[in-house]
Amino acid sequence: MISVKNLYHSYNNDKNYQVKNVSFEVNEGEIFGFLGPSGAGKSTTQNILTGLLRIQKGEAIVAGYNVRDMSKEMFNKIGMSFEQSNVYSKLTAKENLDFYRKLFDVPTRDSIELLKLVGLEGKENIKAGNFSKGMKHRLTFARSMINNPKLWFLDEPTTGLDPSIAANIKSIIKEKNREGVTVFLTTHNMFIADELCDRVAFIVDGEIKLIDSPKNLKLQYGDKLVEVEYVKEGEIITEKLSTVLEKDKKSLQNIISRYEIRTMHTKEATLEEIFIKVTGRGLI
Ligand SMILES: Nc1ncnc2c1ncn2[C@@H]1O[C@H](COP(=O)(O)OP(=O)(O)O)[C@@H](O)[C@H]1O
Ligand SMILES: [Mg+2]
Repeated sequence: MISVKNLYHSYNNDKNYQVKNVSFEVNEGEIFGFLGPSGAGKSTTQNILTGLLRIQKGEAIVAGYNVRDMSKEMFNKIGMSFEQSNVYSKLTAKENLDFYRKLFDVPTRDSIELLKLVGLEGKENIKAGNFSKGMKHRLTFARSMINNPKLWFLDEPTTGLDPSIAANIKSIIKEKNREGVTVFLTTHNMFIADELCDRVAFIVDGEIKLIDSPKNLKLQYGDKLVEVEYVKEGEIITEKLSTVLEKDKKSLQNIISRYEIRTMHTKEATLEEIFIKVTGRGLI
């Protein structure tokens, strides 16, 4: 669905690149995540792939179109939701969506149905300028689905939303993906990357450091630990033990045979811990 080769971008058109030698492929039907801290070059990359920024150096094919000679037809096939909401303040929520529907040459979704989907039912006649930040974000998100895109670009789709709304957005993304929509998702939030993405690219300072599935990353980089809680002489004791080190394995066997076990969990490394291990940087 997306093929990017040796992509570079410099806002000043000099050798100080904000995107450096970025290459990756996104397969049809997958949710591909771009995970990295603020300023890593995620939005810049999305903006090049969606034609908002002119491609400078490298190659990118998006939904079968070369972004170098972008055709207007491509916009019928893709959807984009932006980090900063860009809705028309003087139009109502419904007018915003109705206006967008007219821009496409393909069947579009009903505005009211979309507003309902993102929890904005009953708000259709309110001007978007009077919406809260979260409501504007949801309107932008709803708008990105209007043309039933096969490829969906989502830039920080849950950032700044309260948890119940973020959960709603995540379930919509999962549902669309089940229906076959390919998703390119940029985020600095490891939870959303972990929960939604089939594969993630770690991006720092404009460069991709690694691409893999969250599961493989945890297997490869996670410390293999088990946390055991047991009762010893009436006292509850918690210990973290390695499932690899011989000494810890023996201790674990000893605990299991001698004491009453209350809980036992394997501890996985979080994606953020792995990110720090791999890139030397945090996700803030
Ligand atoms: N319009 C712009 N002009 C100049 N520099 C920019 C512009 N937009 C972003 N940048 C810079 O490019 C780098 C990457 O930004 P961005 O792609 O927005 O990162 P991310 O989305 O990962 O937070 C940052 O250093 C940022 O300051
Ligand atoms: Mg960004």
